[in-house]
Parts: sequence; C-alpha cells; structure tokens
Amino acid sequence: MIREQNLFFEITTNHTSYWFHILPSGHPEHLYYGPRIEAGADAERALADRPVYLGGNGISYSKEYPLVGLEELCLEFSALGHGDVRDPFVTVLYPNGSPVSDFLYEGYQIRDGKSGMQTLPSAYAEEDHQDNRGNAPDCVQELTLTFRDRNYGTVLELIYAAFPDCDVITRRSVLRNEGSRAAEVQRLMSLQLDLADSEYDWHTFTGAWAREFNHQTDRLHQGRFVSESRCGLSSSMNNPFVMLTRPNTTETAGLCYGFNLIYSGSHQEEAEVNAYGKTRILTGIQPDGFSWKLEPGEELEAPEAVMTVTDGGFGALSRSMHRFVRHHIVRGAWKDRERPVLLNSWEAVYFDFNEEKLLEMAKTAADTGIELFVLDDGWFGRRNDARSSLGDWYVNREKLPGGLGELAEKIHSLGMQFGIWVEPEMICVRSHLYEEHPDWAVAVPGTIHSEGRNQRILDLTRQDVRDYIVQAMSDVFSSARISYVKWDNNRIFTDLFSAAGTRPGEFLHRYCLGYYEVMDRLVHAFPDILFEGCASGGNRFDLGVLCYMPQIWASDDTDAVCRAMIQTGMSYGYPMSVISAHVSASPNHQTGRYTPWATRFGVACFGMLGYELNLASLSEEEKQMVQRQIAFYKEHRKTFLSGDYYRLVSGREDDFEKGIWQWMCVAEDQSEAIGFFLQRQFVPNMSAAFFRTQGLDEHALYRFRDFQVGSGLGNEEDFTLSGSLLDHAGVRLTQAYAGEGRKPGTRYFSDAASRLYVIEKAE
Ligand code: GLA
Repeated sequence: MIREQNLFFEITTNHTSYWFHILPSGHPEHLYYGPRIEAGADAERALADRPVYLGGNGISYSKEYPLVGLEELCLEFSALGHGDVRDPFVTVLYPNGSPVSDFLYEGYQIRDGKSGMQTLPSAYAEEDHQDNRGNAPDCVQELTLTFRDRNYGTVLELIYAAFPDCDVITRRSVLRNEGSRAAEVQRLMSLQLDLADSEYDWHTFTGAWAREFNHQTDRLHQGRFVSESRCGLSSSMNNPFVMLTRPNTTETAGLCYGFNLIYSGSHQEEAEVNAYGKTRILTGIQPDGFSWKLEPGEELEAPEAVMTVTDGGFGALSRSMHRFVRHHIVRGAWKDRERPVLLNSWEAVYFDFNEEKLLEMAKTAADTGIELFVLDDGWFGRRNDARSSLGDWYVNREKLPGGLGELAEKIHSLGMQFGIWVEPEMICVRSHLYEEHPDWAVAVPGTIHSEGRNQRILDLTRQDVRDYIVQAMSDVFSSARISYVKWDNNRIFTDLFSAAGTRPGEFLHRYCLGYYEVMDRLVHAFPDILFEGCASGGNRFDLGVLCYMPQIWASDDTDAVCRAMIQTGMSYGYPMSVISAHVSASPNHQTGRYTPWATRFGVACFGMLGYELNLASLSEEEKQMVQRQIAFYKEHRKTFLSGDYYRLVSGREDDFEKGIWQWMCVAEDQSEAIGFFLQRQFVPNMSAAFFRTQGLDEHALYRFRDFQVGSGLGNEEDFTLSGSLLDHAGVRLTQAYAGEGRKPGTRYFSDAASRLYVIEKAE
C-alpha cells in the first residue's frame, strides 16, 4: 500500500514500512526503512532531522533554507554540488560545463499495478497471480516522484513499486532532458538508501571462475565499501546481490537488508559511511567510465533495483527474495513448470563425439529416467577445440551426418527431449563469419588484441549484428525439435571499440541493452524453449538474465563440495529453482576430488538436476543407482522447485569441525520436506550430530527417514515426530563412526559424505 499525506509518503508491504517526506526546500528526506511500524501523530517530526544550527564548516543549501545542510541529511537521492559530499545518485554535466545539479520536488503519482520499462527488463506484476496455496494476487502499486532541475529543466523521476506479499520494494530512476541543449549523464544510479547510523555489517558475494559466491563480511566504518563489476558482465567477481545487517544478525533473527539489481552489465553497490556516521547505500550501473549523451527530448532509464528488509535474520530475507524472484522475475512457459532432468555432453565427451557416441549415451540416459539430452559445445563449424568457429552456426556434418534434425528425432524416439548449447554473442577469428564481417568484432583497429578463450565479442550495440544473431539462432532453433537452449558467454570485455561509432562511455550499457533486445526477440519467437543462462558458469548470474532464462548454470566447478559452498552463497539471494546443478564424474574434473555418489546427487538435487558424465561407461549397479536417484528426484522435485528453502547450518571451509552444511526445502503446503546433511571431512572422535529442521507445520506429525542412494548402507533413521519437536529439538542422529565402533548400525561419514532426509506428513 502506498499513501501520501501532506507530502509524507508511506510505502507498506505485509511486514515492512518505508517512509520519507518532502522538505519545504524541495528535497526528499528519508525517514525509515525496516520492519513494519505504525505512525503516531508525531511520527514524521520524531524521525526527521531537526537542525537548530549547522556545525563548524557546514554548508547550508540556500539563503532561503539556511538550516538545510545536505551533507548530513538522509536523502532519497542526491546530486552533486550543493553540499552533499557523499557519492551522488545522479551527476549531469550541463552544456555550460557545470556538473552542479539542483533537482527539486515537482509532483507525484500513485497507481495500481506497475509500469514496464522501455529498454530494460523489469520485475512484473502478474494481476491474476495466485500461489499454490490459493492466496490472493500480490497487489502491486507504484509511486512516481518527479524532480526538476531548477536551472536546466532536466527531469528526474524516482519510481518505487511495492510488492506486499514478498515484502519487496523496487526502485528505479529515469532522467529526461527537457532542456534545449544536449547534456552528458555521468552517473544515474537505481537505488539510494540513507540510514541514520552505521552499526552495520556489509555482506558481499565475491569470487572468480569456478569459485563463485563466497560470502564476505565487512564491519562498516567511515569510508566507502564497494562491490562492483567493471568487466561488462555482472561477473563472478562481485554479484549485484548484497546485504546489510546489524552485527549480531543470525540466520534466524536480526535486522537484515537485501539489495539486488535487474541488470547483467557492469554494476556497483556501495555502502558509504560519512563523517556523521550515516550510511548511504547506492546501487546501479557502474558509474566509472559511464557517460551518456542525452539530447533534448531523450531519456535514460536506470535498471530496476530490488530491496527487502526483515528482522528475522538471513533466512527470512532469503525466502522473501526467493519468492520475489520466482513470482516477479522468472516468467514464461517454464516459470512454475517442473524442469526436466537432463544429461549434458560437456564433461562426458567434451569436443570428442560423433552421432554414434552420443546415441550410446542417450540410450543409457533414457533407461535411467533422464528426460532431456543436451548436446553442448562442438556440434557446429569446424569446432573440434575451443580455437575456432564461433559465429559459424551450421552443423558439423562429419560429426553429425544427418544434422541436428535427425539427431533430435533419434533422441525423441528414445523418449527424451533434445537441447543444444550456443554462444551467439561471440566470434572466433578462425570463422567464416569473421572473414565476412571483421568489423563486427569488438577490437581496436590496428592494435594488438587481448584475446580471451580465442574469441572476441560481437558488437551488439549494432542493429545489423543483433539482427544477424536473431536470424542465425532462429535458423538453429527451428532446424530440429529443440526444447532447451544453453546460452553461453565465455569472455569479458576488453579492447572496447565499435566500428559503428558507439560512444565509448555508452558502449557497455548499450551492449547490455542489445543483449536484452536479442533475448526478448528470441524468447518471444520460441516461447516453449527452456533457456538456461551460462557465462563460464556463474559470470553472468543475475536478475536481468533470469527475466529471459528461468535457470542459470551456476558454476563450471561441478565438484560437489565446492558446489555446496557456491550454492549456499547463491541461496542468500536466489531460489533453488534458478540454480542449475549437475552430478559429474568422480574424481572430479576441476578438483580431482573423490566424492561419493550420494553427495554428488544430494548437492545437485537441491538445484535443477542434471547429469554431466558418460553414463554409458557406468557399471550396471551404478546405472540402477542413478535410476533410483532420478526416481527420487521426480517424486520430490516440486518441493525443490517451489518449496521454502532453509540454511540450517552453513559450514566453513577453513574449520575442521565446522565443515558441515545442512539444508532443507519445505513444500509450500508443508506436506513434506527434504533435508540434506554434508560433512566436508571425516572428523575423529565426533560421533554425535543433530538434524534440527525449520519451517514445518508444528501441529502435524511427520515421518523422518534417511534416503541413502549409493552408500550401500541400510537405513539409519526412522522416526515419527511432531513438527514442533523436529523444528525445536531436532533429531539426534545415529552415532557416527569416529575412529572406533565401525560396525553395522553406525553412521559412517567418510570425507565429503552426506545424507538426504525425507520428512513426510504422517497419516
Ligand atoms: C563454458 C561453459 C561450460 C561448457 C563450455 C563449452 O565453459 O560454462 O559448461 O558449456 O563452455 O565450451
């Protein structure tokens, strides 16, 4: 619900409140964002800054408003030049050479529902949406505030949308040049949140190729704390999802803010503590290197930012974000649809395959219950290694004499669907496409080029290049019965230059807009295809991608123990339904680690399950085990897809005794839950362990059992217990082998061992 009274604005979701008001000077002062509160008669006065004097060298905004000191105020947005020396929300270089702005309040509008965006994907409000429990639609409302620069006529709109059921508020901004001369936008952020103190921890998710989403925590103090990408993609180095918490916040209690951005390009999230101990959060497009020419009459949109807050700790925050992503980001035919269990050819055969080899694997796959066969890299041009052919999207007849069409039919006749890998944004110098269009590649003419994975990026700021990609992909997607596409992107931006003259300061954002245009055209042309995003694993894992593709390949690291950490990191901001995870070979191809089957399966089934190893080479016994795993997954996959996710225990890699991860997914109707227990390392002389659940129906009885596919052991646990006992006391698990007592009836936990627990409502 959004309300205004005498320029005091209240945005309310089921459990949160967001308040601000407009000062007589025309500046918007932020008053509160946190757990839901009710206003008393003096609420506004009690929360507002009420200066009687400005200290020492303080700057007052104007003669008319001598006590408005912008340096100290909590503001809804800030511009450069009238006293606020923190990082600004918006910076415009005006035609007279001045970067000083003076945006003042002009008006507001509240509407039911939510407007879309012109150039960028955004969260959507599905009017007739009902969740599985039959709840009423989320009544989304939107507020637009307008500010006008009193000197130049530039207009800034701040747009807020409230999603009551998910406790999410989104924010975005639009800058319009209503002046008579061109201006240069040097930054336009999406979200600014100024908080009155700085007793906070700043949580970011950092990483690199094959080790994405490490949860990092910094205690704030005066200065700037920045999480950002400068490589043109949202990146595995710093994900746009960040959190801000009180230092004592835990998984189940405490103040916790979460922020994300619906954007796939270079971005920045910053927490800045100023000289007065106030904290400013700013998120949006990476301002460094950004510069956008705005002609009279033109406007620039900033991506939509997402925020939520709770006093229920990290867990409650994650579940709000999960609901929001599932209901308002992911869309299309596959939004709520159970995803097929797939076999991917990459780690099974890499580039070394022909039709016969693929069909041999496919036959075994079909026998085990796999539903989708995915042919990864290597099927096109002369692509026998990663050195050539990106851009030549026609089938390699030496490997596949009957083409994709015939292979797809053979796969279908085995009872499976067929899917394919593509990397359309790229070009190899060794390709026909490059011979025809060398100027389509992003490269500075006449200089050495810094190559990445032997490939260059196509200039998607150009309409002719975008049209080519849409045409080439449409040809591929309609050349065979294709129901799934893995859309990869394997290098970051360097050597920026557009032969079409795209301005350097606009290049990366225009590229991202071009990528969205291509995706938009293709997902509408092929609405039934399940698209999966990928960028060397998780190098473009963000809400922008998820507006087009319901799931993303989380990491090129398929080692189950590494994946447990990566997927735990992702789970803070993203639901399991968008995380693609595969069972791969042991020893693992990235780490060389030996990991039990049960653990490889347990970790992967908490995401969208696939297999990525040569099934044809398995023993009969192993094949039967895979069959039982897949049957188990199919029985419970609705719970993994749409259930509530809980991090019960989050282990620490560096701690011998604390290397334990416990997760749980509870079905939306609480009729069943699946638990998972992973211990990174065997621990001697530690034989006792508990499994304490969360989120069960406390008044119901549940049967709690372990599910041990592949361990060769018998069942260890079988209890019928109340939901309240399981949630509060937990189950004492069977005593573990711990250097003594290895006999039937002990819980044997070798390195990287795990268990799955099935918790079902008893009749
Ligand atoms: C990237 C992807 C992998 C695989 C290879 C193929 O690395 O992340 O999953 O598709 O490309 O070249």
